[in-house]
Amino acid sequence: MQATVDKKIKRIALLTSGGDAPGMNAAIRSVVLAAHHYHVEVVGYYHGYNGLVCSENITESKVLTLDDVNSIIHQGGTILKSARCPQMLEVEGLKLAANTLENESIDALIVIGGDGSFNGLIALQKYWSGQVVGIPGTIDNDVDNTDYTIGFATAVNTGIEAVDKIRDTADAFERIFIVELMGRHSGHITFNVGIACAAEQVLSFENFSEGSKQEKLLHLSTEIKAAQKNRHDSYIIVIAENLWQGGATQLAKELKQQAGVECTACVLGHIQRGGSPVAKDRLLATKMGVAAVQALIAKKSNVMVAEKNNAMNFVPLEQAIKHHKLVSMQLIDAQQNILALTAQTQC
Ligand code: F6P
Repeated sequence: MQATVDKKIKRIALLTSGGDAPGMNAAIRSVVLAAHHYHVEVVGYYHGYNGLVCSENITESKVLTLDDVNSIIHQGGTILKSARCPQMLEVEGLKLAANTLENESIDALIVIGGDGSFNGLIALQKYWSGQVVGIPGTIDNDVDNTDYTIGFATAVNTGIEAVDKIRDTADAFERIFIVELMGRHSGHITFNVGIACAAEQVLSFENFSEGSKQEKLLHLSTEIKAAQKNRHDSYIIVIAENLWQGGATQLAKELKQQAGVECTACVLGHIQRGGSPVAKDRLLATKMGVAAVQALIAKKSNVMVAEKNNAMNFVPLEQAIKHHKLVSMQLIDAQQNILALTAQTQC
C-alpha cells in the first residue's frame, strides 16, 4: 500500500544497494541537489544496507554536501559503494538498521537499487516508521512498472560496442563466436544487444527454454551449419548468463564435442556494469532523484519512483517487486522475424 506521513522531513538517508549501475552517481547527485533546494540534509550510508546494519555503534555514513556530488554525474560505479546485505533478510539485521535510522534522527530513507533492495525497504518498515522511497537502479532492467531502470541503457551500449568489436575478428577469421551477456535471469540486455548487433542467434530465457539439452544442441548446430553452408562469414550467438549450465564456454565445448561445430566463447561479465553513463541514464537518474525527494516532501512513502511513457510515476513497492519485468514481445517477435528473413535470403 502507498502510504503518506504527517511529519516534515529534515534528514534523508541515502544508499546504493546490490549490483552497481552506471548512473547511480547521477541519481545521488540529483537527490542531494534536490534535497538542498528543500533545505533537507542528506546522509549517505556506505556499502549498501551494510552501512546501516553495522553493529557496536559504528555506522558508515557521511553528510553529503554539494561539493561531494560535484563532478560525479559522468562517473560509473557509486561514490557510496554498494553491496548485497544478507543481514537484511534477518530480523536482527532489520532491527539494527532501524535502530541506526532512529538514533541518527533520520526521517526518510531513499534506496537506489533493484528488486532485492526494495524487498529490504519493505521489510524494514516493520521496525521503522520513517518514509521510504526506492529508485530503480540495475543494469538488468528487470524491475516491473518502470519503462527503464538506471544503468540499463549504458550496459546495452557497452554490450553493443563489445560485440561490434568481436564482429570484426569474427568477419576477418570467418569464425563463430558465442558472447555471454549479463542479466541475472532476464534477457533484456541479451535481446537488446543481440538485435542491435544483428547477432545471428539470440539465446535467452524467453526463447530458448523448451526441449532437452540434446535437442537444443542439435537445433543450434543445424542452424549454424545451414547458415554457413553457402557462405563463409562471421556468425555471432549472444547468450544470457545462467541460461546454459557452464555458460558460453561450456556451450562452445559441447557444440564442438557433440556436433563438430567450432566456436569461440567470450564472457563480457562485469565490463557491462562499469563505465561512464550514457545520456539516457544520466537524464533518467536526474529525473528520478528529484522525483524521489519531491515524493518525500509530498509525504509519500513505500513507493518506487518509475518512468512510464516519459512521465515520472510512483508505484507502491509491493507492486514494483511483485513480478520481474518481461522482455517485450515486440522485441522477441522482431528477432524471430529477422532470423526467418535472414534464413530465406541465404537459401
Ligand atoms: O544485477 C546486476 C548483475 O550484474 C547481474 O546482471 C548479474 O547476474 C549479477 O549482478 C552479478 O553479481 P555479482 O557482481 O555479485 O557477481
